[in-house]
Amino acid sequence: MPSSAQKFWDKTAARYAKSPVSDETTYQRKLAETQALFAPDMRVLEFGCGTGTTAVHHAPHVRHIDAIDISENMLEIGRGKAREAGVDNVTFTRGTLAEFGAANDSYDVVLGLNVLHLIADWQASIAEAARILKPGGALVTSTVCVGRSKLRFIKLLNPLGKLLGLMPDLYILTEEELAAEVRRAGLEIETQWHHARDGIAVFMIARKG
Ligand SMILES: C[S@@+](CC[C@H](N)C(=O)[O-])C[C@H]1O[C@@H](n2cnc3c(N)ncnc32)[C@H](O)[C@@H]1O
Repeated sequence: MPSSAQKFWDKTAARYAKSPVSDETTYQRKLAETQALFAPDMRVLEFGCGTGTTAVHHAPHVRHIDAIDISENMLEIGRGKAREAGVDNVTFTRGTLAEFGAANDSYDVVLGLNVLHLIADWQASIAEAARILKPGGALVTSTVCVGRSKLRFIKLLNPLGKLLGLMPDLYILTEEELAAEVRRAGLEIETQWHHARDGIAVFMIARKG
């Protein structure tokens, strides 16, 4: 039985694929800071990979990427993008991080981009990412933290937005809660900055000791 989140993202996939990157400069900065972590023999996992744009960018820099998402329609677009780009080292699989069930200490880098604020138990996803990272591996996240901004009132609109099929489930977190949870999972934050444009999305790189 598909969840309401899965239905929302399946329905949204084609439109999402057509929408341009909202801030190209910030996107390029995130790609560059992530690629600075890579080496050619690395294994990477991206959860909430969407239409695979980022995975396809990163694929030539590492050995293999597992790209997972709850939406089969998103994944199908991602498979098409990988084929078009001649990329054959990305495997697209449907599911959450917990369902994927990777082995302990098995990935060099785990990416969760624009996704943690869409997951009810986002804290468990951070703990799961920490579990599957190799010692010395890095978690790279980009998360909308509206908790202290005026936008936190979006939670009042969320039930109506969901009812009308215009919004996914949104979880309201602050940057401090995010950072505390990352540290609780045993990761050390190395990089943390806000998107220049809106200031509410936080890019973070955190290392497993
Ligand atoms: C806002 S999109 C971001 C996609 C991509 N990471 C990007 O930055 O463009 C969120 C994606 O997360 C997926 N998603 C939502 N909840 C998820 C979960 N619990 N596990 C895995 N993927 C999830 C959705 O299907 C959707 O493709």
